[in-house]
Amino acid sequence: MQELFVEGGNRLNGELTIQGSKNGVLPVLAATIVCAGECRIENCPHLRDVEASVAILRHLGCCTRWDGNALLVDTTHMDKNEVPDALMREMRSSVIFLGAILARQREAVLSYPGGCELGPRPIDMHLAALRSLGAGITDLGGKLRCSAGALTASEIVLPTPSVGATENAILAACGADGTSVIYNAAREPEISELQEFLNAMGAEVRGAGGSIVTVRGGRTLHGGSHRVISDRIAAATYLCAAAACGGEVRLSGVDCAALSTVTAALYEAGCKVESGERDVVIKSSAALRAISPVKTAPYPGFPTDAQPALMAALLKSSGSTVFVENIFENRYRHARELARMGADVCVAGRVAVVRGVDSLHGADVACTDLRGGAALVLAALQAEGTTRISRLEHIDRGYESMEKELALLGARIERREEEAWQKRDETEDAEGEGIPSS
Ligand code: UD1
Repeated sequence: MQELFVEGGNRLNGELTIQGSKNGVLPVLAATIVCAGECRIENCPHLRDVEASVAILRHLGCCTRWDGNALLVDTTHMDKNEVPDALMREMRSSVIFLGAILARQREAVLSYPGGCELGPRPIDMHLAALRSLGAGITDLGGKLRCSAGALTASEIVLPTPSVGATENAILAACGADGTSVIYNAAREPEISELQEFLNAMGAEVRGAGGSIVTVRGGRTLHGGSHRVISDRIAAATYLCAAAACGGEVRLSGVDCAALSTVTAALYEAGCKVESGERDVVIKSSAALRAISPVKTAPYPGFPTDAQPALMAALLKSSGSTVFVENIFENRYRHARELARMGADVCVAGRVAVVRGVDSLHGADVACTDLRGGAALVLAALQAEGTTRISRLEHIDRGYESMEKELALLGARIERREEEAWQKRDETEDAEGEGIPSS
């Protein structure tokens, strides 16, 4: 078990190159199995969720190999169509393998996916989309058997623009003869990324980024190369960290348009934000003010995944900010942990009100989920004294060496093995030594 040990109070200055996108690469990895061939995925982040996808690919009979930051996937000899329960529980995004396996093998067997505890995360829209492509689905006590003698193109209307259901529908439609049309598709940049990769493998997917996506299926796909886009949520997290701590930080290799709702919020809070073509610079005095209500929404609205980081940035702002979480029911679990550090966050259902406090103090806290965990780190960076953060497996799902990135900017943050920390704690008590200033 590892823990983060953070001493707050430092300003953040410097430059970061943002990691490849977690939410972009996971559907791309699932898409590799729609072809029987070799794929090269460049700029692939080293994350727990990527490891979980690799485990699924290997279980299915694919070969994978890292070459620096590129992940090579050879799907030629894929010979299984069942994903065991233990692998499905690792992450929510495992459900995207359903459409991909179906497209390749015409039959897929898997259980309901795991993932962050953000409230109910149904997959009814995923299943309805697959049914309309001709798949028969039976639920055998939590195990889903999804099969189709032949998939047939169809018109799919999503009741809400679900990211995962759009991805599953696109993947399965690649294996359906004829042209499928997905209406009310999610418009997230990660859908465009999936389209780009599938087309590089010889598919014909059009319209991603808009609400109507068409897929001309039934083509034989070949292996392909792809470079993963930068992670807009990791970028939003580091922008919020700089806003909260004060300083000047440049993030390079980012898609500024995809960050615009976050940068607009930070600008309103009193930061200077300069967006270039592929980089963004934030300058902050750390004296932030409350902003108008933040309402999460499907893209291009304010991302639900950036809500916890923005909340953490505003904990010491002057005034009160209202958050309305419209995507997931239970996305404020980090608020309880923030309260241990002196934060004033009042939660009622989907609404949370952050009243800025003069100071935060260090405490022992535990990550509740991926983005909530990042919020705890941001709060710790602003707190007086030392914060010890446990349950890092959540953060490691989506951030590549978060503590190293923040230390590069001047934060005092270290990851330690729990036992090592305890041993060192005793030594430090004896020697009077604190965490080194960087
Ligand atoms: C969500 C985010 C996505 C983010 C991802 C990873 C949105 C719209 N989606 O995608 O940006 O990258 O988490 O953190 O912000 N729903 C159903 N039935 C379904 C599928 C979804 O009712 O079959 C509901 C969900 O409960 C939710 C909404 O639809 O309220 C949108 O969910 P969806 O986009 O599918 O979630 P993810 O794909 O996990």
